[in-house]
Amino acid sequence: MKKIIESAVLASNLSKTLIYSLEYRMLYGLSKGLSFFVEPPTRERNPELLRHLGEGVVELHREDGRNVADGIYPIQVIKPRDPRGHLENLPRLFADSLRISRRRRLNLKHDFKSGPENVPDYLKRNYHFQTDGYFSEESARLYEHQVEVLFSGTAAPMRRMLIKFLKKKFTLNRPLRILEIAAGTGAATADFARSFRVQSYTVSDVSEDYLKLAKKRIPKGPFEFVRASAEALPFSDGSFDLVFSVYLFHELPRSVREEVLKETFRVLAPGGIIGICDSIQRDDDPKLNVVLETFPKDYHEPFYKDYTLWDARSSLVGAGFTEVSSDHRLLSKYWVARKP
Ligand SMILES: C[S@@+](CC[C@H](N)C(=O)[O-])C[C@H]1O[C@@H](n2cnc3c(N)ncnc32)[C@H](O)[C@@H]1O
Repeated sequence: MKKIIESAVLASNLSKTLIYSLEYRMLYGLSKGLSFFVEPPTRERNPELLRHLGEGVVELHREDGRNVADGIYPIQVIKPRDPRGHLENLPRLFADSLRISRRRRLNLKHDFKSGPENVPDYLKRNYHFQTDGYFSEESARLYEHQVEVLFSGTAAPMRRMLIKFLKKKFTLNRPLRILEIAAGTGAATADFARSFRVQSYTVSDVSEDYLKLAKKRIPKGPFEFVRASAEALPFSDGSFDLVFSVYLFHELPRSVREEVLKETFRVLAPGGIIGICDSIQRDDDPKLNVVLETFPKDYHEPFYKDYTLWDARSSLVGAGFTEVSSDHRLLSKYWVARKP
């Protein structure tokens, strides 16, 4: 039975990789004919690198299958979320890729019609050169799809791999009070909620628009949605058992990263756990160092380079955490630690 589950997950994941890779080709292939307007991101033509990435993708999908077969998370994680919405997004994605390319070509990093209001200054920018940064309904609508196109359908399995490291290291077999920070549109939320016994689950993000979409799409459950900056969490001391984030830290200036760790430590109960999933860092996989160099230029990530050199372990220990461990899979890295 285990083998059948593993194969079913592998087949489902590979088909998603195929679809998103074709979409990537389509978006930037089409744009070749429009090369006056469009500057596709730098894609390494290095065949050895492509082979290495390809092998990494297959290995990730295989491990995802083993995780389901081992009961780390349930089979529902592979269910496509919204096939109709996916198709409807395609023309919008193409239109947006033209706008993104224009911004990339002109190096426009603060291209907003108005706002955003009430957010820290470092966030008022077009991360990934994306339209409206994190601050519009349209940006929220396209965000997850754009991420999967960029990662060839591996973002979802890379996100949920954090569950494995959380469960491996700590016994989490009682109902938990969970806080997800920078949850965005809730790409990871349903998978995490299905994988733990949940007493309460607070979904938070600084973007009202992203949070609104998360609220609309996440299935009914013990969820509360709270707009919050990760460096100033509006929760009392010791109020959660698990606090985690996915793909937040590489977007923050170093001093803010440290503040977020301190805030997380504060809101965790003694014995509580922090989980972080983010990009790999320099030399985690030396063959991928070149990708870490081109990514922040192509996708306007001003704090990314510093992130790739950041000693997160020391920062976690400095914030008071113990039992720090880290691991990485394909393009993602994971840290898990405990508040003593
Ligand atoms: C790359 S997205 C990741 C979203 C989601 N976790 C995912 O896996 O798709 C980064 C998210 O962090 C949020 N964000 C950025 N800085 C933040 C901060 N200081 N506090 C809270 N959220 C923040 C953005 O609004 C955005 O939703």
